[in-house]
Amino acid sequence: MSAADRWSSALADWAIPERILSQAAESPWDLPPWVFSEAAIRSLTSPPTPTHLLINAHLPTGGVLLDVGAGGGAASLPSSDKAGLIVAVDQSPTMLRQFLQLAEGRAAATTVVGHWPEVAGQVEVADVVVCANVAYNVSALGDFVEALTHKARRGVVMELTASHPQAPLGWLWKHFWQLDRPTSPTAEDALEVIRERVRKEVQVVTWTGPEPLALAVNPEAVAWTRRRLCLEPSREAEIRDLLLTHPSDTPGQMVTLGWRGDASDG
Ligand SMILES: C[S@@+](CC[C@H](N)C(=O)[O-])C[C@H]1O[C@@H](n2cnc3c(N)ncnc32)[C@H](O)[C@@H]1O
Repeated sequence: MSAADRWSSALADWAIPERILSQAAESPWDLPPWVFSEAAIRSLTSPPTPTHLLINAHLPTGGVLLDVGAGGGAASLPSSDKAGLIVAVDQSPTMLRQFLQLAEGRAAATTVVGHWPEVAGQVEVADVVVCANVAYNVSALGDFVEALTHKARRGVVMELTASHPQAPLGWLWKHFWQLDRPTSPTAEDALEVIRERVRKEVQVVTWTGPEPLALAVNPEAVAWTRRRLCLEPSREAEIRDLLLTHPSDTPGQMVTLGWRGDASDG
C-alpha cells in the first residue's frame, strides 16, 4: 500500500460511528471561525514560530506568499512586513472575511474561495506556499501536496500537529461514549506521503506549540467541544468541570515541514 493510501485509510478510521453520529443535533465537524481568528491574533502577538521563521527564510522582500487553508491567517499574516502580497485560499468565505479584516493595514491581500487542489488553476504561482493545520482534513494528501509544490517558486512550508488534532479529546470520547479513538495518522505519516509524492528533501522541525485553543474552558470553546463529542447542550457544564479537573495535557506538539517548490515561471 502506498503512503498516500495508508494516510487516507487511517483518516477514514476517524469517522464517528453511526450509533453516535445519529444522536448529534449539530455537525461535529464544523470548524467555528472564532478559533482561527483567535489563532491568527495570537500569532500576530507572539514570538515567531518555526513555521514563520521558515517562511521568512524563503520569502524575498516584497515576494508573494500563498496561504492554502488560510483560516484567519495565523500562518501568513506574521510575514506581513516582508510579503508584497498575501494570497489566501480557503473553502470557507467566512474564514476569508476574517482573514481580510486582520490583513487590513498590515499587508496587501487577496483571497480565493474554494477547495484545494481543485481551485489551484485559479491561483498564480507564488514565491512561498504555506499550508498550516489543514493536512488532517485532507484524504487525498498526495494530490494536495503536489499541487502546493507546483505553485511555489522557492519553498513550501507545511505545519501540522504531531498527532491528529482531535487526539486531545480522546479521553472525553472514552468518558462519554466508551469509544477508543485512533492513534494514526501522524505527522510522520504525512512526511512519508510528501517524500513519496514530491520526491524532494524535506526539512523537519518539531516544536512545542501553545495550549490547544480547543481545550479552553470559555463558553464558546466548551460548546465547540460538546458539538465535537455529539452531545446535547445540557452536557456543557459537565464537560467544563471535566476540563477543569483533568490534569492539563502537554502543550501541542507541532511539526513544520519545508521543501523546495518546483514552479518555474518568474
Ligand atoms: C484548522 S483551520 C487552519 C487555519 C489556519 N491555517 C491556521 O493555522 O490557523 C483549517 C482551514 O483550512 C480550510 N480547509 C480545509 N480543507 C481545505 C481545502 N481542501 N481547501 C481549502 N481550504 C480548506 C478550512 O476551511 C479552515 O479554514
